[in-house]
Amino acid sequence: MSSGIVSAAYIAASILFILSLGGLSNQESARRGNLFGIAGMALAIGATLIGGTPVSYGLVIALMAVGGAAGGFVAARVEMTDMPQLVAMLHSFVGLAAVLVGFASYLEPAGHFVGVEKTIHDVEIFIGILIGAITLTGSVAAFGKLQGILTSRPVLIPGRHLLNLIIAAACAWLGYCFVGADSINGGIWPLLAMTTLALIFGVHMVLAIGGADMPVVISMLNSYSGWAAAATGFMLANDLLIVTGALVGSSGAILSYIMCRAMNRRFISVILGGFGTPKASSGAGAIEAGGETVAVSANETADLLTSAKTVVIVPGYGMAVAHAQHLVSELVDALKTRGVSARFAIHPVAGRMPGHMNVLLAEAKVPYDSVLEMDEINEDFPTTDVVLVIGANDIVNPAAQEVPDSPIAGMPVLEVWKAATTIVLKRSMATGYAGVDNPLFYRENTRMLFGDAKQSISEVLSAL
Ligand code: TAP
Repeated sequence: MSSGIVSAAYIAASILFILSLGGLSNQESARRGNLFGIAGMALAIGATLIGGTPVSYGLVIALMAVGGAAGGFVAARVEMTDMPQLVAMLHSFVGLAAVLVGFASYLEPAGHFVGVEKTIHDVEIFIGILIGAITLTGSVAAFGKLQGILTSRPVLIPGRHLLNLIIAAACAWLGYCFVGADSINGGIWPLLAMTTLALIFGVHMVLAIGGADMPVVISMLNSYSGWAAAATGFMLANDLLIVTGALVGSSGAILSYIMCRAMNRRFISVILGGFGTPKASSGAGAIEAGGETVAVSANETADLLTSAKTVVIVPGYGMAVAHAQHLVSELVDALKTRGVSARFAIHPVAGRMPGHMNVLLAEAKVPYDSVLEMDEINEDFPTTDVVLVIGANDIVNPAAQEVPDSPIAGMPVLEVWKAATTIVLKRSMATGYAGVDNPLFYRENTRMLFGDAKQSISEVLSAL
Protein backbone atom coordinates (compact mmCIF):
# COMPACT_ATOMS: atom_id res chain seq x y z
CA MET A 1 0.00 0.00 0.00
CA SER A 2 1.38 3.39 -0.89
CA SER A 3 2.37 5.71 1.90
CA GLY A 4 -0.20 8.23 0.57
CA ILE A 5 -3.06 5.80 1.22
CA VAL A 6 -1.70 4.98 4.67
CA SER A 7 -1.52 8.71 5.46
CA ALA A 8 -5.10 9.17 4.25
CA ALA A 9 -6.22 6.25 6.44
CA TYR A 10 -4.38 7.81 9.41
CA ILE A 11 -6.12 11.15 8.86
CA ALA A 12 -9.51 9.41 8.63
CA ALA A 13 -8.74 7.48 11.84
CA SER A 14 -7.74 10.72 13.61
CA ILE A 15 -11.02 12.33 12.58
CA LEU A 16 -12.95 9.28 13.82
CA PHE A 17 -11.15 9.52 17.18
CA ILE A 18 -12.08 13.19 17.48
CA LEU A 19 -15.72 12.39 16.62
CA SER A 20 -15.56 9.59 19.18
CA LEU A 21 -14.41 11.92 21.95
CA GLY A 22 -17.11 14.43 20.94
CA GLY A 23 -19.75 11.68 21.09
CA LEU A 24 -18.60 10.46 24.51
CA SER A 25 -19.19 13.89 26.05
CA ASN A 26 -22.94 13.31 26.05
CA GLN A 27 -24.86 10.22 27.14
CA GLU A 28 -27.29 10.39 24.22
CA SER A 29 -24.45 10.26 21.68
CA ALA A 30 -22.07 8.06 23.71
CA ARG A 31 -22.99 4.83 21.90
CA ARG A 32 -22.30 6.49 18.54
CA GLY A 33 -19.04 7.87 19.96
CA ASN A 34 -17.96 4.35 20.87
CA LEU A 35 -18.72 3.12 17.36
CA PHE A 36 -16.60 5.93 15.89
CA GLY A 37 -13.78 4.93 18.23
CA ILE A 38 -14.00 1.26 17.22
CA ALA A 39 -14.06 2.17 13.51
CA GLY A 40 -11.09 4.54 13.95
CA MET A 41 -9.06 1.92 15.78
CA ALA A 42 -9.85 -0.80 13.23
CA LEU A 43 -8.77 1.55 10.44
CA ALA A 44 -5.61 2.54 12.33
CA ILE A 45 -4.57 -1.05 13.01
CA GLY A 46 -5.35 -2.11 9.44
CA ALA A 47 -3.38 0.76 7.90
CA THR A 48 -0.43 0.23 10.25
CA LEU A 49 -0.33 -3.48 9.46
CA ILE A 50 -0.58 -3.01 5.73
CA GLY A 51 1.70 0.03 5.56
CA GLY A 52 4.32 -1.35 7.96
CA THR A 53 6.81 -4.12 7.61
CA PRO A 54 6.23 -6.52 10.48
CA VAL A 55 8.70 -9.39 10.88
CA SER A 56 5.80 -11.81 10.60
CA TYR A 57 2.16 -11.03 9.89
CA GLY A 58 1.26 -14.40 11.39
CA LEU A 59 2.89 -13.48 14.70
CA VAL A 60 1.19 -10.06 14.81
CA ILE A 61 -2.23 -11.57 14.06
CA ALA A 62 -1.73 -14.38 16.59
CA LEU A 63 -0.74 -11.87 19.30
CA MET A 64 -3.68 -9.62 18.43
CA ALA A 65 -6.01 -12.62 18.68
CA VAL A 66 -4.63 -13.52 22.13
CA GLY A 67 -4.76 -9.90 23.36
CA GLY A 68 -8.21 -9.31 21.85
CA ALA A 69 -9.62 -12.52 23.34
CA ALA A 70 -8.18 -11.71 26.78
CA GLY A 71 -9.57 -8.14 26.58
CA GLY A 72 -12.98 -9.34 25.42
CA PHE A 73 -13.13 -12.00 28.15
CA VAL A 74 -12.24 -9.54 30.93
CA ALA A 75 -14.54 -6.78 29.61
CA ALA A 76 -17.50 -9.16 29.35
CA ARG A 77 -17.09 -10.38 32.93
CA VAL A 78 -16.16 -7.17 34.76
CA GLU A 79 -18.77 -5.72 37.10
CA MET A 80 -19.71 -2.07 36.54
CA THR A 81 -18.44 -1.37 40.08
CA ASP A 82 -15.01 -2.78 39.19
CA MET A 83 -14.61 -0.74 36.01
CA PRO A 84 -12.17 1.83 37.50
CA GLN A 85 -9.80 -1.01 38.45
CA LEU A 86 -9.96 -2.35 34.90
CA VAL A 87 -9.25 1.12 33.51
CA ALA A 88 -6.28 1.50 35.90
CA MET A 89 -4.94 -1.88 34.78
CA LEU A 90 -5.30 -0.95 31.10
CA HIS A 91 -3.40 2.30 31.71
CA SER A 92 -0.58 0.27 33.21
CA PHE A 93 -0.35 -1.70 29.94
CA VAL A 94 0.08 1.54 27.98
CA GLY A 95 2.86 2.53 30.38
CA LEU A 96 4.52 -0.88 30.04
CA ALA A 97 4.28 -0.67 26.23
CA ALA A 98 5.94 2.77 26.26
CA VAL A 99 8.80 1.45 28.42
CA LEU A 100 9.33 -1.62 26.21
CA VAL A 101 9.13 0.34 22.95
CA GLY A 102 11.58 2.87 24.43
CA PHE A 103 14.17 0.21 25.22
CA ALA A 104 13.58 -1.52 21.88
CA SER A 105 14.12 1.81 20.08
CA TYR A 106 17.36 2.30 21.97
CA LEU A 107 18.63 -1.21 21.29
CA GLU A 108 17.44 -1.39 17.66
CA PRO A 109 20.57 -1.03 15.51
CA ALA A 110 18.60 0.37 12.56
CA GLY A 111 17.46 3.16 14.81
CA HIS A 112 20.97 4.50 15.47
CA PHE A 113 20.92 8.11 14.42
CA VAL A 114 23.73 10.62 14.31
CA GLY A 115 24.09 14.30 15.22
CA VAL A 116 20.99 16.33 16.05
CA GLU A 117 18.70 13.49 14.97
CA LYS A 118 20.33 11.24 17.56
CA THR A 119 19.86 13.86 20.28
CA ILE A 120 16.19 14.28 19.39
CA HIS A 121 15.67 10.52 19.26
CA ASP A 122 17.40 10.05 22.62
CA VAL A 123 15.20 12.76 24.18
CA GLU A 124 12.11 10.97 22.80
CA ILE A 125 13.29 7.65 24.22
CA PHE A 126 14.12 9.15 27.61
CA ILE A 127 10.84 11.03 27.98
CA GLY A 128 8.79 8.10 26.64
CA ILE A 129 10.30 5.67 29.14
CA LEU A 130 10.05 8.19 31.99
CA ILE A 131 6.32 8.84 31.49
CA GLY A 132 5.68 5.17 30.70
CA ALA A 133 7.37 3.91 33.87
CA ILE A 134 5.51 6.41 36.09
CA THR A 135 2.23 5.43 34.40
CA LEU A 136 3.00 1.73 34.81
CA THR A 137 3.61 1.57 38.55
CA GLY A 138 1.25 4.49 39.33
CA SER A 139 -1.57 2.60 37.61
CA VAL A 140 -0.73 -0.66 39.36
CA ALA A 141 -0.77 1.17 42.73
CA ALA A 142 -4.12 2.81 41.80
CA PHE A 143 -5.47 -0.64 40.89
CA GLY A 144 -4.32 -1.96 44.29
CA LYS A 145 -6.04 0.90 46.11
CA LEU A 146 -9.31 0.58 44.21
CA GLN A 147 -9.32 -3.21 44.58
CA GLY A 148 -8.75 -2.90 48.33
CA ILE A 149 -5.39 -4.74 48.15
CA LEU A 150 -3.64 -1.55 49.31
CA THR A 151 -4.99 0.86 51.91
CA SER A 152 -7.15 3.68 50.54
CA ARG A 153 -5.64 6.03 53.13
CA PRO A 154 -2.70 8.16 51.98
CA VAL A 155 0.64 6.53 52.81
CA LEU A 156 2.85 9.42 53.82
CA ILE A 157 6.50 8.69 54.36
CA PRO A 158 8.44 11.41 56.21
CA GLY A 159 10.19 13.90 53.91
CA ARG A 160 8.25 12.65 50.90
CA HIS A 161 8.30 15.99 49.07
CA LEU A 162 12.08 16.13 49.47
CA LEU A 163 12.33 12.55 48.20
CA ASN A 164 10.25 13.49 45.14
CA LEU A 165 12.49 16.49 44.49
CA ILE A 166 15.61 14.31 44.76
CA ILE A 167 14.09 11.79 42.32
CA ALA A 168 13.18 14.62 39.89
CA ALA A 169 16.69 16.11 40.11
CA ALA A 170 18.30 12.67 39.68
CA CYS A 171 16.14 11.98 36.59
CA ALA A 172 17.14 15.35 35.10
CA TRP A 173 20.82 14.52 35.66
CA LEU A 174 20.41 11.03 34.23
CA GLY A 175 18.69 12.61 31.21
CA TYR A 176 21.71 14.84 30.74
CA CYS A 177 24.03 11.80 31.00
CA PHE A 178 21.93 9.82 28.52
CA VAL A 179 21.28 12.47 25.89
CA GLY A 180 24.69 14.09 26.07
CA ALA A 181 26.14 10.58 25.86
CA ASP A 182 29.90 10.65 25.82
CA SER A 183 32.13 7.68 26.35
CA ILE A 184 32.04 8.00 30.16
CA ASN A 185 28.40 8.74 30.89
CA GLY A 186 26.50 7.40 27.89
CA GLY A 187 25.06 3.99 27.23
CA ILE A 188 22.14 2.19 28.73
CA TRP A 189 22.86 2.65 32.44
CA PRO A 190 21.35 6.17 32.79
CA LEU A 191 18.25 4.81 31.09
CA LEU A 192 18.06 1.84 33.46
CA ALA A 193 18.69 4.03 36.52
CA MET A 194 16.03 6.55 35.44
CA THR A 195 13.53 3.73 34.77
CA THR A 196 14.08 2.35 38.28
CA LEU A 197 13.58 5.80 39.82
CA ALA A 198 10.48 6.48 37.70
CA LEU A 199 8.98 3.10 38.70
CA ILE A 200 9.54 3.98 42.38
CA PHE A 201 8.15 7.49 41.88
CA GLY A 202 4.94 6.12 40.28
CA VAL A 203 4.14 3.96 43.32
CA HIS A 204 5.20 6.62 45.80
CA MET A 205 3.12 9.35 44.16
CA VAL A 206 -0.10 7.30 44.05
CA LEU A 207 0.30 5.74 47.51
CA ALA A 208 0.41 9.24 49.02
CA ILE A 209 -2.96 10.09 47.49
CA GLY A 210 -6.08 9.26 49.50
CA GLY A 211 -8.96 7.13 48.25
CA ALA A 212 -11.33 10.07 47.82
CA ASP A 213 -8.97 11.57 45.23
CA MET A 214 -8.68 8.33 43.22
CA PRO A 215 -11.06 9.47 40.45
CA VAL A 216 -8.71 12.35 39.71
CA VAL A 217 -5.71 10.01 39.87
CA ILE A 218 -7.31 7.65 37.36
CA SER A 219 -8.00 10.43 34.87
CA MET A 220 -4.52 11.85 35.50
CA LEU A 221 -3.00 8.43 34.73
CA ASN A 222 -5.25 8.30 31.68
CA SER A 223 -3.64 11.56 30.61
CA TYR A 224 -0.13 10.21 31.34
CA SER A 225 -0.86 7.07 29.32
CA GLY A 226 -1.82 9.34 26.39
CA TRP A 227 1.42 11.32 26.64
CA ALA A 228 3.36 8.05 26.93
CA ALA A 229 1.66 6.86 23.73
CA ALA A 230 2.45 10.19 22.02
CA ALA A 231 6.11 9.87 23.05
CA THR A 232 6.08 6.33 21.64
CA GLY A 233 4.65 7.77 18.42
CA PHE A 234 7.64 10.13 18.20
CA MET A 235 10.05 7.22 18.80
CA LEU A 236 8.43 5.16 16.07
CA ALA A 237 7.85 8.18 13.79
CA ASN A 238 4.17 7.22 13.68
CA ASP A 239 1.97 10.30 13.16
CA LEU A 240 -1.27 8.61 14.14
CA LEU A 241 0.13 7.45 17.48
CA ILE A 242 1.30 11.00 18.17
CA VAL A 243 -2.14 12.44 17.38
CA THR A 244 -4.02 9.72 19.29
CA GLY A 245 -1.70 10.00 22.28
CA ALA A 246 -2.11 13.77 22.35
CA LEU A 247 -5.92 13.40 22.17
CA VAL A 248 -5.93 10.96 25.11
CA GLY A 249 -3.36 13.02 27.00
CA SER A 250 -5.23 16.30 26.67
CA SER A 251 -8.72 14.86 27.23
CA GLY A 252 -7.46 13.10 30.38
CA ALA A 253 -5.95 16.36 31.59
CA ILE A 254 -9.21 18.24 30.92
CA LEU A 255 -11.21 15.54 32.75
CA SER A 256 -8.81 15.77 35.72
CA TYR A 257 -9.34 19.53 35.78
CA ILE A 258 -13.15 19.17 35.63
CA MET A 259 -13.06 16.62 38.46
CA CYS A 260 -10.84 18.78 40.62
CA ARG A 261 -13.30 21.62 40.13
CA ALA A 262 -16.19 19.27 41.06
CA MET A 263 -14.38 18.37 44.29
CA ASN A 264 -13.22 21.95 44.89
CA ARG A 265 -9.61 20.80 44.97
CA ARG A 266 -6.50 22.12 43.31
CA PHE A 267 -4.86 19.65 40.95
CA ILE A 268 -1.45 20.23 42.48
CA SER A 269 -2.76 19.53 45.99
CA VAL A 270 -4.25 16.25 44.72
CA ILE A 271 -0.92 15.20 43.23
CA LEU A 272 1.00 16.16 46.36
CA GLY A 273 -1.29 13.76 48.26
CA GLY A 274 -2.09 13.57 51.96
CA PHE A 275 -5.85 14.17 51.58
CA GLY A 276 -7.98 12.02 53.90
CA THR A 277 -5.37 11.17 56.54
CA PRO A 278 -6.56 9.42 59.74
CA LYS A 279 -5.81 12.60 61.72
CA ALA A 280 -8.08 14.68 59.52
CA SER A 281 -10.94 12.19 59.43
CA SER A 282 -11.15 11.99 63.19
CA GLY A 283 -11.63 15.76 63.28
CA ALA A 284 -14.75 17.83 63.66
CA GLY A 285 -16.61 15.78 61.07
CA ALA A 286 -16.76 12.86 63.46
CA ILE A 287 -17.80 14.94 66.49
CA GLU A 288 -20.49 16.72 64.51
CA ALA A 289 -21.98 13.44 63.36
CA GLY A 290 -23.18 12.06 66.73
CA GLY A 291 -26.90 11.83 67.67
CA GLU A 292 -30.05 9.84 67.09
CA THR A 293 -31.27 8.52 63.80
CA VAL A 294 -34.92 7.95 62.85
CA ALA A 295 -35.59 4.70 61.03
CA VAL A 296 -38.57 4.24 58.71
CA SER A 297 -40.19 1.18 57.16
CA ALA A 298 -40.83 0.55 53.47
CA ASN A 299 -44.56 1.24 54.06
CA GLU A 300 -43.84 4.63 55.65
CA THR A 301 -41.47 5.42 52.78
CA ALA A 302 -44.19 4.57 50.26
CA ASP A 303 -46.63 6.87 52.13
CA LEU A 304 -44.13 9.73 52.16
CA LEU A 305 -43.46 9.29 48.45
CA THR A 306 -47.11 9.14 47.38
CA SER A 307 -48.07 12.17 49.42
CA ALA A 308 -45.23 14.20 47.83
CA LYS A 309 -45.58 16.41 44.77
CA THR A 310 -41.87 16.52 43.96
CA VAL A 311 -39.36 13.74 44.53
CA VAL A 312 -35.65 13.79 43.75
CA ILE A 313 -33.64 10.56 43.72
CA VAL A 314 -29.92 10.68 44.48
CA PRO A 315 -28.19 7.47 43.43
CA GLY A 316 -24.74 6.58 44.74
CA TYR A 317 -22.26 3.76 44.84
CA GLY A 318 -24.62 1.59 46.95
CA MET A 319 -27.20 1.55 44.13
CA ALA A 320 -24.53 0.10 41.86
CA VAL A 321 -23.51 -2.50 44.48
CA ALA A 322 -27.13 -3.54 45.02
CA HIS A 323 -27.89 -3.60 41.24
CA ALA A 324 -31.01 -1.64 42.15
CA GLN A 325 -31.19 0.59 39.04
CA HIS A 326 -33.96 -1.37 37.28
CA LEU A 327 -36.20 -1.34 40.36
CA VAL A 328 -35.43 2.34 40.89
CA SER A 329 -36.56 2.98 37.32
CA GLU A 330 -39.79 1.05 38.05
CA LEU A 331 -40.29 3.11 41.19
CA VAL A 332 -40.01 6.34 39.20
CA ASP A 333 -42.57 5.06 36.68
CA ALA A 334 -44.91 4.10 39.52
CA LEU A 335 -44.57 7.57 41.06
CA LYS A 336 -45.10 9.31 37.74
CA THR A 337 -48.33 7.39 37.12
CA ARG A 338 -49.51 8.74 40.49
CA GLY A 339 -48.82 12.31 39.36
CA VAL A 340 -45.62 12.72 41.40
CA SER A 341 -42.76 14.57 39.68
CA ALA A 342 -39.67 12.34 40.05
CA ARG A 343 -36.19 13.35 38.85
CA PHE A 344 -32.62 12.18 39.41
CA ALA A 345 -29.75 14.27 40.78
CA ILE A 346 -26.30 13.14 39.68
CA HIS A 347 -23.11 14.20 41.45
CA PRO A 348 -20.03 14.34 39.18
CA VAL A 349 -18.15 11.80 41.31
CA ALA A 350 -21.07 9.60 42.43
CA GLY A 351 -20.11 5.93 42.36
CA ARG A 352 -16.62 4.91 41.41
CA MET A 353 -16.01 6.32 37.95
CA PRO A 354 -17.01 9.34 35.88
CA GLY A 355 -20.54 8.90 34.55
CA HIS A 356 -21.09 5.75 36.66
CA MET A 357 -24.67 6.63 37.62
CA ASN A 358 -25.56 7.88 34.13
CA VAL A 359 -24.50 4.54 32.66
CA LEU A 360 -26.57 2.55 35.17
CA LEU A 361 -29.66 4.72 34.68
CA ALA A 362 -29.31 4.55 30.90
CA GLU A 363 -29.09 0.75 31.21
CA ALA A 364 -32.37 0.84 33.18
CA LYS A 365 -33.96 2.95 30.41
CA VAL A 366 -34.48 6.04 32.57
CA PRO A 367 -35.32 8.96 30.22
CA TYR A 368 -32.35 11.35 29.88
CA ASP A 369 -34.48 14.44 30.49
CA SER A 370 -35.24 13.37 34.08
CA VAL A 371 -31.53 12.97 34.90
CA LEU A 372 -30.02 16.26 36.09
CA GLU A 373 -26.47 17.24 36.95
CA MET A 374 -25.62 18.69 40.37
CA ASP A 375 -25.42 22.29 39.14
CA GLU A 376 -28.82 22.00 37.45
CA ILE A 377 -30.69 20.64 40.47
CA ASN A 378 -28.99 21.87 43.64
CA GLU A 379 -31.12 24.98 43.94
CA ASP A 380 -34.34 22.91 43.66
CA PHE A 381 -33.84 20.99 46.93
CA PRO A 382 -35.48 23.64 49.20
CA THR A 383 -38.68 23.22 47.17
CA THR A 384 -38.51 19.41 47.02
CA ASP A 385 -40.88 17.36 49.18
CA VAL A 386 -38.94 14.10 49.40
CA VAL A 387 -35.37 13.19 48.50
CA LEU A 388 -34.55 9.50 48.21
CA VAL A 389 -30.82 8.92 48.72
CA ILE A 390 -30.07 5.45 47.38
CA GLY A 391 -26.70 4.13 48.54
CA ALA A 392 -25.01 7.54 48.44
CA ASN A 393 -23.00 8.98 51.29
CA ASP A 394 -20.03 11.33 50.63
CA ILE A 395 -21.82 13.20 47.85
CA VAL A 396 -24.65 14.23 50.20
CA ASN A 397 -22.51 14.98 53.26
CA PRO A 398 -23.23 18.47 54.71
CA ALA A 399 -19.86 18.33 56.55
CA ALA A 400 -18.30 19.33 53.22
CA GLN A 401 -19.90 22.76 53.68
CA GLU A 402 -20.22 23.03 57.43
CA VAL A 403 -17.11 21.47 58.97
CA PRO A 404 -14.01 23.41 57.89
CA ASP A 405 -11.50 20.76 58.97
CA SER A 406 -13.43 17.83 57.52
CA PRO A 407 -11.37 15.83 54.99
CA ILE A 408 -14.05 16.59 52.39
CA ALA A 409 -14.35 20.30 53.28
CA GLY A 410 -15.01 22.35 50.15
CA MET A 411 -16.17 19.41 48.03
CA PRO A 412 -19.39 20.47 46.28
CA VAL A 413 -22.25 18.24 47.47
CA LEU A 414 -25.92 17.70 46.67
CA GLU A 415 -27.76 19.77 49.31
CA VAL A 416 -30.39 17.11 50.04
CA TRP A 417 -30.87 18.20 53.67
CA LYS A 418 -32.67 21.32 52.40
CA ALA A 419 -35.65 19.22 51.22
CA ALA A 420 -38.71 18.78 53.45
CA THR A 421 -37.83 15.11 54.06
CA THR A 422 -34.76 13.11 53.11
CA ILE A 423 -34.90 9.31 53.17
CA VAL A 424 -31.54 7.53 53.11
CA LEU A 425 -31.37 3.93 51.94
CA LYS A 426 -28.30 2.07 53.19
CA ARG A 427 -27.50 -1.07 55.11
CA SER A 428 -25.82 0.33 58.21
CA MET A 429 -24.27 3.47 59.66
CA ALA A 430 -21.00 2.74 57.83
CA THR A 431 -19.11 5.62 56.22
CA GLY A 432 -18.69 6.04 52.47
CA TYR A 433 -15.56 5.97 50.35
CA ALA A 434 -13.85 8.95 52.00
CA GLY A 435 -14.25 7.34 55.45
CA VAL A 436 -15.98 10.44 56.84
CA ASP A 437 -19.02 10.40 59.16
CA ASN A 438 -22.15 11.97 57.75
CA PRO A 439 -24.19 14.41 59.92
CA LEU A 440 -27.06 14.14 57.40
CA PHE A 441 -28.18 10.88 58.99
CA TYR A 442 -28.86 12.63 62.31
CA ARG A 443 -30.82 15.59 60.94
CA GLU A 444 -34.39 16.15 62.15
CA ASN A 445 -35.87 15.81 58.67
CA THR A 446 -33.83 12.71 57.74
CA ARG A 447 -35.28 9.19 57.82
CA MET A 448 -33.17 6.04 57.47
CA LEU A 449 -34.48 3.03 55.53
CA PHE A 450 -31.96 0.35 56.49
CA GLY A 451 -31.30 -2.66 54.27
CA ASP A 452 -29.94 -3.63 50.88
CA ALA A 453 -31.09 -0.96 48.41
CA LYS A 454 -32.60 -3.46 45.96
CA GLN A 455 -34.55 -5.22 48.68
CA SER A 456 -35.75 -1.93 50.17
CA ILE A 457 -36.90 -0.53 46.81
CA SER A 458 -38.68 -3.79 46.04
CA GLU A 459 -40.56 -3.53 49.38
CA VAL A 460 -41.43 0.11 48.70
CA LEU A 461 -42.76 -0.89 45.27
CA SER A 462 -44.89 -3.63 46.86
CA ALA A 463 -46.22 -1.12 49.37
CA LEU A 464 -47.08 1.28 46.56
P1 TAP B 1 -20.00 6.39 49.01
O1 TAP B 1 -19.68 7.64 49.71
O2 TAP B 1 -18.91 5.42 48.76
O3 TAP B 1 -21.17 5.69 49.85
C1 TAP B 1 -21.81 4.55 49.37
C2 TAP B 1 -22.79 4.09 50.43
O4 TAP B 1 -23.55 3.03 49.86
C3 TAP B 1 -22.11 3.54 51.65
O5 TAP B 1 -22.24 4.42 52.72
C4 TAP B 1 -22.81 2.18 51.90
O6 TAP B 1 -23.33 2.17 53.23
C5 TAP B 1 -23.93 2.18 50.88
N1 TAP B 1 -24.14 0.85 50.30
C6 TAP B 1 -23.20 -0.02 49.87
N2 TAP B 1 -23.78 -1.13 49.41
C7 TAP B 1 -25.12 -0.96 49.56
C8 TAP B 1 -26.25 -1.77 49.28
N3 TAP B 1 -26.14 -3.00 48.75
N4 TAP B 1 -27.47 -1.28 49.56
C9 TAP B 1 -27.61 -0.06 50.11
N5 TAP B 1 -26.58 0.75 50.40
C10 TAP B 1 -25.34 0.30 50.12
O7 TAP B 1 -20.68 6.66 47.59
P2 TAP B 1 -21.08 8.01 46.87
O8 TAP B 1 -21.94 8.84 47.77
O9 TAP B 1 -21.59 7.60 45.55
O10 TAP B 1 -19.74 8.82 46.73
C11 TAP B 1 -18.70 8.40 45.88
C12 TAP B 1 -17.39 8.40 46.61
O11 TAP B 1 -16.47 7.61 45.88
C13 TAP B 1 -16.79 9.78 46.73
O12 TAP B 1 -16.04 9.90 47.93
C14 TAP B 1 -15.87 9.85 45.52
O13 TAP B 1 -14.84 10.80 45.64
C15 TAP B 1 -15.34 8.43 45.52
N6 TAP B 1 -14.88 7.94 44.24
C16 TAP B 1 -15.53 8.33 43.12
C17 TAP B 1 -15.10 7.90 41.89
C18 TAP B 1 -15.83 8.43 40.68
S1 TAP B 1 -15.00 8.95 39.40
N7 TAP B 1 -17.12 8.51 40.68
C19 TAP B 1 -14.01 7.01 41.81
C20 TAP B 1 -13.37 6.58 43.00
C21 TAP B 1 -13.84 7.08 44.22
P3 TAP B 1 -23.64 0.78 53.95
O14 TAP B 1 -22.36 0.00 53.92
O15 TAP B 1 -24.08 1.16 55.32
O16 TAP B 1 -24.73 0.12 53.17
